[in-house]
Amino acid sequence: MPLTQTLPDFIRGLPKAELHLHIEGSLEPELMFALARRNGVALPYASVDAVRAAYDFSDLQSFLDLYYAGAAVLRTEQDFYDLTAAYVARAVADNVLHAEIFFDPQTHTVRGVPMATVFAGIAGALRDAQVAHGFSSRLILCFLRHLSEEDALATFAEALPLREAYADLWIGVGLDSGEVGNPPEKFGRVFAQARALGFRVVAHAGEEGPPAYIWGALDALGAERIDHGVRAEEDAALMTRLAQDQVPLTVCPLSNLKLRVVQDLRDHNLARLLKAGLCVTVNSDDPAYFGGYMNANFLATAEALGLDRNDLVQLARNAFVAAFASDTEKQGWLDALERYQRG
Ligand code: ADE
Ligand code: ZN
Repeated sequence: MPLTQTLPDFIRGLPKAELHLHIEGSLEPELMFALARRNGVALPYASVDAVRAAYDFSDLQSFLDLYYAGAAVLRTEQDFYDLTAAYVARAVADNVLHAEIFFDPQTHTVRGVPMATVFAGIAGALRDAQVAHGFSSRLILCFLRHLSEEDALATFAEALPLREAYADLWIGVGLDSGEVGNPPEKFGRVFAQARALGFRVVAHAGEEGPPAYIWGALDALGAERIDHGVRAEEDAALMTRLAQDQVPLTVCPLSNLKLRVVQDLRDHNLARLLKAGLCVTVNSDDPAYFGGYMNANFLATAEALGLDRNDLVQLARNAFVAAFASDTEKQGWLDALERYQRG
């Protein structure tokens, strides 16, 4: 590691994997306006600046209200392609080698957008990115937890006929949207079905919800990774379980700040979770809404918490280890990371 390199330069060059990214949350206001115009959709904003000014959130729900409203401009396969291609360009610029991307089909099918359109647009851009940039990716279909389990079961049944056509990408299911009042146990049957069919399983838990929801994600849903999970720290027995089993946490620092999970990034518990031996990773969540992609999250966190370069390498390594990829793929990324660390 050449010590003359600045911290931003070190972070820029660091090979990274992103494991917690909602593709609908990468919709930048400029693209939102362009798609609204293309599709004749009215937006409740006069300008791109007015959209950005509205991104002043008090909690998760205040964000979700705007996030679902913004997603209404996504109508055609080309829209989903353009959205995904724009994210890939930002990720490649941040030296993200691999991304596991969440998408929320219920947000679109409820508006009459066919499931096949959502898959085709996102997958088209990801396949082109593999060819053009060697960018590796997978897709994780998320169920909206504020809706019923029946709705999730119907959505899963609607998506399953597409599995073979997208077997290279669609490898998992997840759980997102409003957490409090919607515990993991509500989705036990649909996650059992997904597991039985060989899908990988993740769930948002412990973002705003209590540690009991993290236990529920692990034990009732069989989650292999916890998305966010920062409230685990309130439960010593849970911390022991997460450390012993090396359950990855996909932590999203700028998201936590914007949604007021923490009031100041200097109060974020990421460094303590790392010190406690948990498999912590850094991710951007909904970067168009929270003010930063991967490198911005790494840099803001490093500066706020005084992380050193070994910590940053550890965070990057954890994400490659936690990825839903083959051992060969992971070894290739880990070798690249080690070469980078050696300088
Ligand atoms: N959907 C998009 N971003 C989310 C988040 N941070 N938590 C829950 N659901 C989400
Ligand atoms: Zn999320």
